[in-house]
Order: sequence, then C-alpha cells, then structure tokens
Amino acid sequence: MQKKLAVLTSGGDAPGMNAAIRAVVRYAIHHGFECWGVMRGYQGLLEDDMVPLDPRSVANIIQRGGTILKTARCKAFYEEEGRARAAAMLKKHGIDNLIVIGGDGSFRGAAKLNAEHGVHVIGIPGTIDNDIEGTDYTIGFDTALNTAMESIDRIRDTAASHERLFLVEVMGRKTGFIALGVGIGAGAELVLTAENPRAIEDVCQRLLRGQTRGKTSSIVVVGEADHEGHVFDIANRIREHCGLDYRVTVLGHTQRGGAPSARDRLLASRLGAGAVQAVADEETNVMIGEVAGKVVRVPFHDIAGKRKQVDDSFFELVDILST
Ligand code: ADP
Ligand code: F6P
Repeated sequence: MQKKLAVLTSGGDAPGMNAAIRAVVRYAIHHGFECWGVMRGYQGLLEDDMVPLDPRSVANIIQRGGTILKTARCKAFYEEEGRARAAAMLKKHGIDNLIVIGGDGSFRGAAKLNAEHGVHVIGIPGTIDNDIEGTDYTIGFDTALNTAMESIDRIRDTAASHERLFLVEVMGRKTGFIALGVGIGAGAELVLTAENPRAIEDVCQRLLRGQTRGKTSSIVVVGEADHEGHVFDIANRIREHCGLDYRVTVLGHTQRGGAPSARDRLLASRLGAGAVQAVADEETNVMIGEVAGKVVRVPFHDIAGKRKQVDDSFFELVDILST
C-alpha cells in the first residue's frame, strides 16, 4: 500500500512557508508518498479540511509569501479531546505521518499527538522570530529582517532630512533576533529589547552624546514587548527626560508578508526535503533544522521549553558601531 503523509502550517505565517510546502510535496511524491495538505493548521485537521496535493498544485508558489494552506491558532488542540479528533481524521484517511511547519508551540502540539495517538510527527521551523532552539535559522527570519531593514533605510532618509529621532518597533514576540539583526544591518543608534533593558537615563545620555558628536538624527530600534504601546511609552519617557521630540513607526505585520528572500527559499527547500527524508527513515518527534550550514534532526524533547538566546556580543556591537 502507498505510504501517505500530510503537511500543515501552524502559528504565525512566515515568508518561505510556501517554498517549504512545495519542497515537501515534490520530494514526497518523488519518494513514492501520497501527499495531503491540511488547511488552517490544527483547526483544519479537527474539521477534516484536507486536500490532496500533487506536484502541479504547488506550482508557482515558491516566490509567494504567506501560506497556501492557510494557518491558524487552534484552541481545541490544547485539549486531549481535540487531539483525539485530529488523530481520528488522519486515521480515516490512512495517514500516519504529519509534517508540521510552525513554531515551538506547534511542535509541542505535534509531540502530544505522537504521545497520545502514535502519529509520526516531524517539525519544520517556520517563524520570523528565529527563536527556536536547535536551528541557526528559522524560515522567514531572513525575509523579515530584510523587510524591516528596507523600511528603516526609508525612515532614515526622512529622519535625516528633518533631523529627527525615530523609534521603530519591530516584531519578535519575546526575543530580540529581528531587533538586533536589523539594528546592526540598518545602522541604528540604539537597540532596545527585552533581553537588554536600558534605563531611560542611559538611552537619553547616548542620544545626546550622539548629538554632541555631530549626529543630527537617530534611529532607535525597539523589540516589541508583551504589552501594546510599549514603544510609545519609551518615546514619551525620552521626551519627558531629555526633551527630545520624536516620531514612532510600528512596522508590525509588514514584516510577516512579502516574497521570501533567496536565503529563505533555499532553507525552506532543504528543510522540506529533510523532513520527508526523516519520514522515509521512519523517524518521529524530531525537528529538521540547520546548524552550521548542515541539515540536522533535533529531537523535540531536546528543544522543548528552551528559548534560543540572542548573542550578547551583538548589543556591544551596536553600541560601538553607532558612535
Ligand atoms: P507557534 O507554533 O508559532 O509557536 P503557537 O504557540 O500559537 O504558535 O501554537 C500554534 C498552535 O499549536 C496553537 O494554536 C495550538 O493549536 C498548538 N499548540 C501550541 N502549544 C500547544 C500545547 N502546549 N499543546 C497542544 N497544542 C499546542
Ligand atoms: O511569532 C511571530 C509573530 O509575528 C511575533 O513576532 C508576533 O509577536 C506575533 O507573531 C503576532 O501574532 P499575531 O498573528 O497574533 O498578530
């Protein structure tokens, strides 16, 4: 009997997810699998919203942002009952392998589906945040960085013309990978993230010191925090403390869209193929990552509950390079 696998995207979308779906489908079919796509992540699994995928159904998507399979956050999947329904749907179609493209939450769900119902699960890291342990890069991070960098380049033009201070908020939920990457790449004066909180006095001191050194405009990159309005709070406090006027730009979901970069397409293609290879080798409960340029298999239990840490030396680099 022909072996079957299903693929879904879950959690926040990321540019390059389509390239990963394409690689999974084509590599799987090349290796003799029948391939199914699950719509809207775990929600679609519960609702039996599945479509057969052939090589043509993934034509012309490698360059597209978003995910043709759609994505969702599914409350019911946190419950045993929801996962039992999902497993029953897979069983109904005779599918015992599931490839999940998403973040660490999606992998936690997948691991439970395996533990409770024996479904073979393989993860592919897809999130712009780059916050997944066990892989140097996640699919979508490079594109998000480039998008944010291009936006800040534009902001710099107007900041320079008006001799203004700009605070630019970037995404990253709880981690500063995007903030630090773009802070260095776009030449920001300061990067403020949850990992490296700085007193407002210190922030003002650096900005004023820049002025005495001849800087007439400044860019401060702020990593998003859990509460809304965080960047506006910081901006207000700067004005109260040292009188500097400012403008704020929140880049928001622009960072999640757009055509994936070459780097993300390549990563997605390699990880997609690696995931199918792991299925073919009858592996389960592993994430396919990239470490030092090599495709690796990382057991879910090695990464569960861990948060990848930013490299502290990046903060020092921003400070030195922005003098
Ligand atoms: P990400 O995968 O990007 O980290 P989320 O944390 O929102 O995004 O997880 C995506 C989905 O994965 C959730 O909506 C839920 O359906 C499932 N999920 C997340 N964490 C768990 C968990 N601990 N147990 C079961 N399912 C989970
Ligand atoms: O995890 C990806 C991410 O874009 C984070 O950077 C951000 O905090 C979050 O998702 C936003 O999620 P939502 O899609 O619910 O707006």
